Amino acid sequence: MTEDLIYKKDIYFPSHLGTNDNLITLLNRATRILCDWFSKAEKYGPLPFDENFKCLMPDEDGNSTEDLFSDIQSLLNNSFNPVHPGSLAHLDPPPLIFSILGDLIAAGLNNNLLAYELSPSITLLEDSLCKWFAKKIGFNDSSGGIAASGGTLSNLNALIAARHNSGLGSDPNSVLLISEDAHSSFIKCTRIMGLDEANLIRIKTDNNGSMDIKNLIETIDKCLINKKKIFAIVATLGTTVRGAIDPIKDISEICKKRNIWLHVDGSIGGIFAVTSIPIKGLNCINQANSITINPQKIIGITKTSSLLLVAEMRTLENTFSTGLPYLSSKEDIINRGEIGIQGSRPAEVIKLWLGLRFLGLKGIEDILKSSIKRKDFFIKNISKNKYDIFSGPLHIISFIPKGITPKDSDFWTKTKVNELIKNNFMLSRPKFKGKYFLRVVMGNYNTNESHIEQLLRLLEN
Ligand SMILES: Cc1ncc(COP(=O)(O)O)c(C=O)c1O
Repeated sequence: MTEDLIYKKDIYFPSHLGTNDNLITLLNRATRILCDWFSKAEKYGPLPFDENFKCLMPDEDGNSTEDLFSDIQSLLNNSFNPVHPGSLAHLDPPPLIFSILGDLIAAGLNNNLLAYELSPSITLLEDSLCKWFAKKIGFNDSSGGIAASGGTLSNLNALIAARHNSGLGSDPNSVLLISEDAHSSFIKCTRIMGLDEANLIRIKTDNNGSMDIKNLIETIDKCLINKKKIFAIVATLGTTVRGAIDPIKDISEICKKRNIWLHVDGSIGGIFAVTSIPIKGLNCINQANSITINPQKIIGITKTSSLLLVAEMRTLENTFSTGLPYLSSKEDIINRGEIGIQGSRPAEVIKLWLGLRFLGLKGIEDILKSSIKRKDFFIKNISKNKYDIFSGPLHIISFIPKGITPKDSDFWTKTKVNELIKNNFMLSRPKFKGKYFLRVVMGNYNTNESHIEQLLRLLEN
């Protein structure tokens, strides 16, 4: 073997023999660059992007270490920075430090959640952590869950299981009921399931943004008359635009009475259920058949981190199991590629597990309480004469000037978003009820009251 080949082999993969000094040096250097990027957030702002950013493609010969570190630096210099205190646009908080470590370890392990033999310890870990969550929210011993790469996939896993377990198969008359403020991922889910817009029925919301129960009952009755078969009702625990919560208790009673699967989309608010923070409706989410929880959205578990919890684990097995003919299995241990849509899947559970072990229940509660406190401070101090404000029990606020027309709302929000980003505040502009709003998501632990005061002063101008 020539010197060159030995060198190349050494840097392709970690060595099973040596000390991996080369890899350690690279990791140290990458860590330093990353931490430098965090600490310079204030200097560069939440969204420093240079239009001339070049996406360099692979060359014939591999690039040098120096080239690659320059690529990494350029990528960081042109990335959204979630640790900046002005990053308040979306449900993308700063990354929890032990989750960053978890991602590193998961990448190095390169285990596969497809099957027990490819990830023995992590298969058990994911199963145990799902069961831990399921117990915390009040499910019984037959419950469990599965991780998925994001809330959309968790919702999709749930709906496919709901339809399968209702015995509707691919019946074109099967329908899903959601509130008009539910997340757009349900549109995707129905399309993927071979259904169309007519199979997705939207229930009106009340002034608080919660599902209107009277309209729900009327709609269910209408479905029966029209021979539509409801395979699930979705209750949202934290709507995307204003953080509203549907009346889960009432919906669950209706579902029980009519034998309909209840899915709770707790992508935003579900994590509150493991704390003692008093939020209406949380204590009865154990009445649901399935619940999506997305710890990436508030507590900073690095993306992606989402769980689908189910009251009956067998409902996932019934739906997704194929026998996986090319992998062996062990009695009493389910290959986790057999209980959800995804096959090969990274060990995302490590960053969730480490993050939660690091925080403990007190740490989770601290982060969630602080996000509500920032929301309350913002609402207390924003001019009520000037703005219509839409918010709920969670940490999201959407607002617009009173009496603004839909056309002017488009112009106003665009202008404001541009003005604010020049002052290092990043807000979003969701379209809601025909108008554009400005939205603040108070999930950034680095944002303090003086930042919020500064933001409010900019909004006053
Ligand atoms: C309420 C709700 N459900 C589901 C989703 C989809 O989650 P993801 O983007 O992780 O797929 C979102 C995303 O913001 C959401 O707000």
